[in-house]
Formats: sequence, structure tokens, C-alpha cells
Amino acid sequence: MMSAESSVAKRLEGKVALITGGASGIGESTTRVFIKHGAKVLVADIQDELGQSLCKQLGTPETINYIHCDVTSESDVRNAVDLAVSKYGTLDIMFNNAGISGDPEPSAIASDIDNFKRVFDVNVLGGFLGAKHAARVMIPAKKGCIIFTASIASKICMGLSHAYTTSKHAVVGLTQSLSVELGEYGIRVNCISPYAIVTPLFRKTSGISNMEKVEELLSAAGVLKGAILEPSDVAQAALFLASDDAKYLNGVNLPVDGGYCLNNQTWKTGLKDRLLQ
Ligand SMILES: NC(=O)c1ccc[n+]([C@@H]2O[C@H](COP(=O)([O-])OP(=O)(O)OC[C@H]3O[C@@H](n4cnc5c(N)ncnc54)[C@H](O)[C@@H]3O)[C@@H](O)[C@H]2O)c1
Repeated sequence: MMSAESSVAKRLEGKVALITGGASGIGESTTRVFIKHGAKVLVADIQDELGQSLCKQLGTPETINYIHCDVTSESDVRNAVDLAVSKYGTLDIMFNNAGISGDPEPSAIASDIDNFKRVFDVNVLGGFLGAKHAARVMIPAKKGCIIFTASIASKICMGLSHAYTTSKHAVVGLTQSLSVELGEYGIRVNCISPYAIVTPLFRKTSGISNMEKVEELLSAAGVLKGAILEPSDVAQAALFLASDDAKYLNGVNLPVDGGYCLNNQTWKTGLKDRLLQ
């Protein structure tokens, strides 16, 4: 009899993926899911111990490896892409997921300019470098898939810092701009916009320690009741976009938000009552 595990169709068999920010949170979860679905994965991050121990846990160097890669450094990103190709023969999937929230200060006049630049360096330039070097090897192969992690901050204002919000808008613009250029070579470029998830990044931004309580609150504030968004939900969206099931999806900003961005809170909390009095 087939075990439940072995009966799962491997949707990335024979594919090679590079995942930035792959040591933690959404990236870590995606690494697990991609490995489970038969991909060979190069984890690129700046948290070396975490990345290395994840790789040991999930496989052997034949299937998974770690490389120290600061996405703001073009030479680091170039080396990571070249290592994926030299180890595994090709690069099919580039997941530009590394990101930082930076200083959560929401006020424009109190914003620190160095923080603004740093957030853009990691979230926008870092993603662009990933796409640039992935395209370098994908264009001659005339195939490939590039995915970014954006955020619902690319769709609605959440009282987050202007740096983070605009960086995620820029990620969507980058996705769309690249999708048109690279579509010509059969390369698909898409991004994913998750609602809030309790990951180390979220803990840092919120500064709150009782994370169970936060999960409850996030779930209560969500449109879709009875579910809590987890990193694996974003990993499943990345799996879909990376797989051949999404072969005609290009330039899409896929929300993983349970419909959160569609909800007009002011209608429910203010306007409706006042208008219908
Ligand atoms: N957690 C959320 O609520 C949420 C919601 C929407 C979007 N996102 C986005 O999801 C992505 C992943 O975040 P997460 O929540 O999993 O956080 P996380 O902190 O768990 O993971 C981010 C990873 O990126 C790595 N990283 C940071 N700077 C880097 C750099 N310069 N070079 C290489 N790696 C670097 C970190 O070491 C970490 O491993 C980010 O782009 C984030 O903006 C998160």
C-alpha cells in the first residue's frame, strides 16, 4: 500500500530552485514544500547556522545546499545563481523572498532615511538582483519561473512604515515589468501577497511577545473565519506558481489573504451605520 506521503504527486520533480531568505519563516516553509515535491533547492540567506541546519535536516547535498548570500550584494547573488547551476545543472525557479520590515515607524516626518534606503536595498534591489541573475541563465534556456514575495501592503495601507509599503508596491511593479520583458523568453514572473503571518519578521515589527494571542487577533481581524494564515499557505501558493499547473500565469500579484484586501472596513465600522440610520 502507498503511504500518504508517497502518494502525493511530486509537482516539482526534476526542477531546481533557489530560495532567498530560505532559512526562516515563509522561505523555510517553501524550502520544505519544494523538497517534498522533488525539487533540488539552494537555500540562500544570511543566517548561516539556521540555513545549514535546515539543509541537513531536509536532505543531502545531492538535493539541498546552503549558500551565504546577502541579496543586496550583486556578487553574492551572482555566486548563488552560479552555484545552483554548477551543482544541479540548471535553474528553473528563482524565489526572491528575502525581505525586512525595517523600522516600523509609520510617521513620514519621523522616518529615518537610512532605514528607508536599507528597506529598499533588501526588498527591491535584492529582488531585482535575484531576477537579473536568474534571467541571465534562464534566457538561454528559454524557460524559467521567477517569484517574489510582496505583501498585502502592496494593495492597501496598513499603518506600516512608508518604506516597507512602497518597497512592496515596487516589488509588484518589478514583477509586472519583468513579466513583459521575460515573457518573450518563456519565463514567467509573478508575486505573492500574504496577509500578516507570525514569523520572526512579524515578531520584530510588532514587538509583541504573546504570539498565540496575536494569531488569534489576526484571525479575528481576517475576512475568512476559522483559519489562521501560516507560512505553509504561502509556500503552497509558491508551489502552484512554480509548477507547470501555472504555465500561463504571468505578471500576477497573487493574494494569500483570505479576501482581506477586498473588505472595506470603513463601510462596516462607520459609513454603513451612518448611511442606513
Ligand atoms: N510575516 C508576514 O506577516 C509577511 C506578510 C507579507 C509579506 N511578508 C514578506 O515575506 C518575506 C519573508 O518574510 P518572513 O515573514 O518569512 O520573515 P523571516 O524574517 O522569517 O524571513 C526572512 C528571511 O530573509 C532573510 N534576509 C533578510 N535580509 C536578507 C539579506 N540582505 N540577504 C539575504 N537574506 C536576508 C532573513 O535572514 C530571514 O531568514 C519578506 O519579503 C516579507 O516582507 C511577510
